[in-house]
This record gives sequence, structure tokens and C-alpha cells, in this order.
Amino acid sequence: MAEANQPIVSVVPDDEGKEKFKKSDHVAFYRRQMEGPNLQHRALLDTMVLTEKGARFKLLEPDTQTTLLLSVSPCKNDTVRILIDELQPIKARYRVPDVITEEPQVEQLRVERQSKDSVTLSWSSGRHQVCVWHFPFRLEILCEDKAIVTFNSKGKLWLEALRDPPGATSRGSELQEDHTSLLWKETFRQFVDIKANGPSSIGADLCLHGFSHVYGLPEHADGLQLRDTRDGEPYRLYNLDVFAYDLYSRLGLYGSVPLLVAHKPDRTLGVFWLNASETFVNVHYSPSGHQDGQTPPVKRRRVEPQTDVHWLSESGVIDCVVLLGPSPQQLFTQYAQLTGYQALPPLFALGYHQCRWNYDDEADVKAVDAGFDRHGIPYDVIWLDIEHTDGKRYFTWDSALFPEPAGLQRHLEKKKRKLVVISDPHIKVDPDWLLYCEARDGRHFVKNRQGQIYKGSCWPGKSSYLDFSSSDTRAWYSRCFGLDKYKGSTPSLFVWNDMNEPSVFDGPEQTMPKDAVHYGGWEHRELHNLYGFYQHMATVEGLITRSGGLERPFVLSRSFFAGSQRLGAIWTGDNVASWEYLRISIPMLLSLSVAGIAFCGADVGGFVQDPEPELLVRWYQAGALQPFFRGHSAKETKRREPWLFGEEVTAAIRTVIQQRYCLLPYWYTVFHQAHTSGLPPLRPLWVEFPREHSTLTVDNQYMIGGALLACPVTEAGVQEVKVLIPGSGEVWYDVHSAKAYNGGRTLSLPVTLDTVPVFQRGGSVVCRSAGSGSCTAELQQLPLSITVALNSQEVADGELYLDDGHSFSYRDNKAFCLRRFTMLSGRLLCRPASGGAFDCVTVVQSVTVLGVKSKPSTVVVHVSGAKDTCAAFEYMETCCMLTVNKLKLRVAMDWEIQIG
Ligand code: NOJ
Repeated sequence: MAEANQPIVSVVPDDEGKEKFKKSDHVAFYRRQMEGPNLQHRALLDTMVLTEKGARFKLLEPDTQTTLLLSVSPCKNDTVRILIDELQPIKARYRVPDVITEEPQVEQLRVERQSKDSVTLSWSSGRHQVCVWHFPFRLEILCEDKAIVTFNSKGKLWLEALRDPPGATSRGSELQEDHTSLLWKETFRQFVDIKANGPSSIGADLCLHGFSHVYGLPEHADGLQLRDTRDGEPYRLYNLDVFAYDLYSRLGLYGSVPLLVAHKPDRTLGVFWLNASETFVNVHYSPSGHQDGQTPPVKRRRVEPQTDVHWLSESGVIDCVVLLGPSPQQLFTQYAQLTGYQALPPLFALGYHQCRWNYDDEADVKAVDAGFDRHGIPYDVIWLDIEHTDGKRYFTWDSALFPEPAGLQRHLEKKKRKLVVISDPHIKVDPDWLLYCEARDGRHFVKNRQGQIYKGSCWPGKSSYLDFSSSDTRAWYSRCFGLDKYKGSTPSLFVWNDMNEPSVFDGPEQTMPKDAVHYGGWEHRELHNLYGFYQHMATVEGLITRSGGLERPFVLSRSFFAGSQRLGAIWTGDNVASWEYLRISIPMLLSLSVAGIAFCGADVGGFVQDPEPELLVRWYQAGALQPFFRGHSAKETKRREPWLFGEEVTAAIRTVIQQRYCLLPYWYTVFHQAHTSGLPPLRPLWVEFPREHSTLTVDNQYMIGGALLACPVTEAGVQEVKVLIPGSGEVWYDVHSAKAYNGGRTLSLPVTLDTVPVFQRGGSVVCRSAGSGSCTAELQQLPLSITVALNSQEVADGELYLDDGHSFSYRDNKAFCLRRFTMLSGRLLCRPASGGAFDCVTVVQSVTVLGVKSKPSTVVVHVSGAKDTCAAFEYMETCCMLTVNKLKLRVAMDWEIQIG
């Protein structure tokens, strides 16, 4: 079989000089919405009905005589859902299923004020109100009588009403018109899209009052703060396989989360646009200024800044949730309540992953595995790309290269390491292959618009695509991961879903045609952005079921949607081994984190091309400080295991991977926080310093949890980096030198190839492992070291979360241990932070306190039920650091250390 080759560099026009991917002006519904019929909707206030689900109104558009149904549902968690559909569509419009985890409890509304122009509704908390204006229709959300958000402020609301096809009613005239409006048929390059339902697009605008910084809307290879789109393309949300993607671009990449987050010092606000069809977002910033330049200065009214956001989607309904914050923390919790919390990964998944396209055979895998031990570099997982299969048939093995896959896994498992294999959504068309036949006979494939099984080309050549939108297909696919069914798999095999945008080499924009048909008769256009999310879901289900529901799964997916955080990890696809791609990985991961996708990473070293050694080291340093930490490289690149570039490079990489392992107790704790509160481990500085203007545009630095500030070095040959250490009145400690710095300024910090600026915030407590071990399972046996960083009031606190690291026992049997460390008046207390029942023998071996102004005379340890003991300690006056070593304090027990 001739192997389909992945086309190189997507952004460069192809041989015929045509671009592979669409710009917005290629998209008919976008043009129609932007040109717009400029409709003026009226809210028919006398049609208002108050129910336990909120308020309902009819909206009338007199010119087109369309009537829409608006429902507004304020929820107990300070979110307001705005839903608009046609009152009587000729057929149902698609509503995104399976993303919202739990319908939040709706508040009972009461009428506060009513006139012929508007009605104001309020609810129990009384802080917020909704005001619906009759003409022109607008919906305002107010807090203490001040508008925070206005829906339809610019009057861009428009649902193209579904209609019968031209032949059925008006005959010729509409078809003629279709040449320009492309309502029923649209062509891009050689691809023809037949729109069985005709035009169905939706659009609406929201004005965010007082905001001049907005974020989110991944995935784009661009900065953290969203840019004003007036000078170019809108942000596109359409999942696509873009090899070596363009930087600083608003075109769509592999996944989409239609969540925009706005922030100003006193409020963080979110707008979630629940739609899985092709979507565009325009952002217009209006800075604060004066309303009218003509008016004499004395009379000019100062206007606050605002951001206008215009959302446009190809189909579906308007389903828009406004999340009112007001703090960043509350916003993240509101979003997690809506779409799910980050899954708690098994501990090994937070270790280092070694991947390559491809590790050639079993001997190669064993040699690489041994290389890590030989060089004293910890790692947890080795990965196999598509070449491990028999002719790109997933769930099979190339019998010549991998004759004993189960034996290979047992070999790794002896060292408590895991194997990850790839499983893509396309299935080779091969009537001699049982899995293909099962899928075909079970009707598990997506169909074309003529009703036959859709075929497209991908790695195996001609392929069909599983229809993961069907729960039957997901259940069937899940069963394929059963240990009895997946020959050669063992419980230590985990999975990687790639190419699930889905990637179709011979499809429009290298994906599936929009007129392909899914379960229930829904066109692909309706749910395109959900495809990868659903594959991820089915794979996760498969791994959970395989273990009888006991073990936490680990699945990495390239494509994603809102809610993918419940399933596992995401990576940023085919990046390039260059400094610019290293730099962009930081804002890309921050944007994902802000939009709930907290377990994210970028290919360390860059996937395409060969990194120079300095870049490789810097990339390892950055990757070690990011949630998902995996080295990966493309087939054509040179081998780049960490020990191939000389001792200096090996040592530098070893150091950062070891540091990552030492920090894993902290990473695990911040992941537990994401799992329970929605706060992402990787945080833009403004999340922790919401009132500081200087933090709003920073996207080369970030916080890891609430305690650590990281500033990876992303420039070649630098000897000094500038680091903003925020917070006047704050104290920060360099984690390497323990040197203290006052916050609220930018430092110039000298760096060598071995150093990466990381600071611990005064007022925090960070738990590390005393050693790194060779993998996370070994790490769990090691004692802990605690670093207490005092703030200017000489207090600090922090948490530590522990469990078995792999099962659901933490959830099902409360087998976890959550401890709180509090330092106050020279006394460090270790106490339970909540009731868990994990029998844990881990001990604290050392405690370091930063910011101790003078040498103490005694350090006394008190353990409940035992006699007080004096502990030996060291004090370094130069950096005000106190270290108490040789402790053996069980972390699960209550104890105190008194510094006298
Ligand atoms: C594309 C993925 O992005 C890349 O990581 C992988 O190595 C190749 N597909 C081959 O499977």
C-alpha cells in the first residue's frame, strides 16, 4: 500500500498556488453575517412567562417576520444562560449535547420594574438583575444597578431561519441567488459543500462594559491577550490538522473552546458560546476616552472602556452562558461547574514522557528505557507512534518489530513504567480485518451525504471514520480497549488519540466534508468541533472499563472542545524546533488553561526539524515547568534522547527533569485543586494579582499554583532575563539561591544555561520530594522537604494532597490525605485540611523556612502524643534561611515546629 504522506507546511500555498485553509472571506455564512441584513428585533414584553427555568420572551423581527424564543436563566452559581432558537423551526436545530455536565440550579425570578420599554428581573441574591429592552431588543446584566454585559448591544443578533430547499417552494429564483449567497451550496477549491438544510447561521454580539483585556478562545498560536480583530482575521474556531502552524495567527488549530474571559481589576467575567459548528469571534476594544470629540472639554462625558465581542456560527442555536465571577477563582469554578472539572491524572502522567515518531522496535524501546537509567534521568512513560501497528491498523502490532508487546510492557512495568500507544479515529478500509468489519457491520462509521460509508484518506490510505457522536459507537470503541480484545495490551498500556479533528488528507481543509452525516442524521457541520472530544471520551471510557472502573485513565488527545478537561491531557500539536515556537508555547498553554484545559503541554524540543542543543535544553526547562511534559519529534528528525548531545546538555536536562520530579508533590496538589475548584495549575499572573495592571499583558511568565512564579528562558544566548515580580508589599524568594526580593518591580536576573528563574511567593508553603527517584512510583516512597516562605507579616500557608496515585479510591473510598501547613508567630502547624482516610506513611524529612530575620535559639518539635524534642538546625544569615533536617514527621499526623 502506498503510504499517504502528510503534506508539508500547511500555510504555504500548494503547488497550484492555492491555500489549503480558508480565511474568513472564503466562508459564505461569515460574509452574510458580517454584511448582515441589519435586523432590529423587538422583545415582546407582554409574552414574558416566568417558570422555574427562568424567563421566556418572544422576539419579533418585523421585516422578515421571524419570531424567536428567548429564554434567560440566571443560575445559583452566578451565571446567566441566554438561549435563543426559532419559535417554530421547520426542523430541530442542533443543540450541543454532552458538554454541560450538570444543569445548574436556576434562580426564582421576580419582576423588579416593568414599563412598556423594559422589564427588570431580579433573583434571590438580589445583587444581579437582568433587564430586557423592548426596542431595539437588548438584554442587560446588571450588578448593583450597573450594566456589566449587554447582549445585542450592537444589534447583531441574527438567526438565519431554516427554510425549505428552493425546489420545494420558489423554484428558480433562489437558485440563481445562490450563486452569490451560497445558501445551499458552497465551493472551496475542488470541494463542494452541499448544504442539505440551507442557510442556518447564527450571530450575536455582547458588550463587556469596563473591560479592556480579554483572553481565552483556544486554540490559536498567538499571545495570551486576544487582539482587536479590526485589522485582520477574526478568531476562528474550527478544528483542523495544521502541520507546522503559522505563528501569531487567528486561524483555527486542532481544538476549540468557545470561552472568552474578560478581566479588569474588580471583576473577571466569562462568555461561553456553546456551539460546535464552525465559529468566528470578532473582538473590538474601545479604550476609555471621551464620548464625543466635538463637545467642549467641560461638557465631555468620560466613558469607560468596553470590549465588544461578536460571535458567529454556521448553525445550531444561540446558547450563551455569561459567567459573572467576580473573582478569577469564582469564574474558574463557575466554568468547571458547567463543563466539568479537570480529571485528576494518575501521578505517572505528571512525570516525564519520552516520545518519538517512532521508536523502531522492541529492542529500541528497551535501549531508550535503559538509557534513562544509565544517565540517571527519571521518566515514567515511553510512547509508540503509528509505526508500531500492522499497516496503521490501530489495536494491532507490527509482528516483526513488536513480536511480544505484552512482554515489552511487563519489562517496563517491572520498573513501574508505562507504555502509551497511538490510536487514531480513522479505520483502514480492509474487509479482511475483523475490527473494520465489526465497525462496518455495527454501523459505526460516519456516512457521506448519499448515505454510504464515508471514505477519506489518512495514514493507512483509504479509511473510514468512526462516528463517536453515537453513544453506541463509543461503547463499541471502548470495548476495543478490553484486555481480552486488544491483543498484546496489558493494564500498563495507555492511549494517545491523534488526527481527531478529524484529519482527512484528501478532505476540504484536510478534514471531513461538512455534509458528511452522523448518527441521528446530523450533518458533520453541526458537530465538527466535538469530534475529537467524543473520541477522547470513548477512549477514556475504554480504559476505565478495562480496569473494572477502578483505575484512573490516561489519554492524550490532539483535538478537544469545552469539557475535554474531564477526560485527560491535550497537547499543542505539530510545533517546530525554533525559539519562536518555544516562546509561543507559553501563551498557548496559558490560553488553554484559562479555558479549562488545564492538563496541557507542547512537544518539548519542537516536533518538526532539529533543535540546536541550547534550544533543546531551554525547552526541557520550560516543559518541566508545564503541566504535560513530553519530548516528541517527527519521523524525519534526528534522534534526540537527552544524552545524545554531550555531558553538559545531558546534565542540564537531567537537572530539570529531576527538579520536576522533586516538585511533583506540589504539581499533584495543584492538580487536585484544579480537580476540586477548577483553578488551573498554570495561571496567568493576573489570576493571582487581579488588581495589578502590570500583570494584564504578561504572557512569558506564569504562576504554577498560587506559590511559584516561573519565567522560562526562551531566547538564545542570553545572560540576563527580565522578570516581573508582581505585588507591591509582596516578598519573593529565588528558589535556587533563596535570595529575597520585594515585589512590584521588574528584575534583571543573570542566567546561565543551567538556570531558570523560579520564585516562591512569600506567604506560601511548597512541598517537594527529597529526591527524584527513577519514576513516580519510586518517588512515592521518598520523604518530603517542605519550604515555608514567609511574607512580610511572617506568615505562610499551603496544602499537600496525597493518595495512591493511580486508582479512584480517593473518590470512592475517600482514600486521600489533604494536609494544611500554617506558619504563624514562629510556629509551623501540620493539620488536616479535610477528612480523608489515606493510610500514608510518607514522612517530612526537612523543613526550610525562608525569611527568618534572625538566628533562632531553639527549634522544638511537638508531635501529638509524644514528648517535645529539640531539633538540630542550620541558619544562613546571608539569605535569612533556616533549615531543620533529619526530621521524621509523618505527614498524615498532626505536629508542630516552634521556632524560638
Ligand atoms: C501528527 C501528530 O501531531 C504527531 O505528534 C504524530 O507524531 C504524527 N501525527 C504521526 O502519528
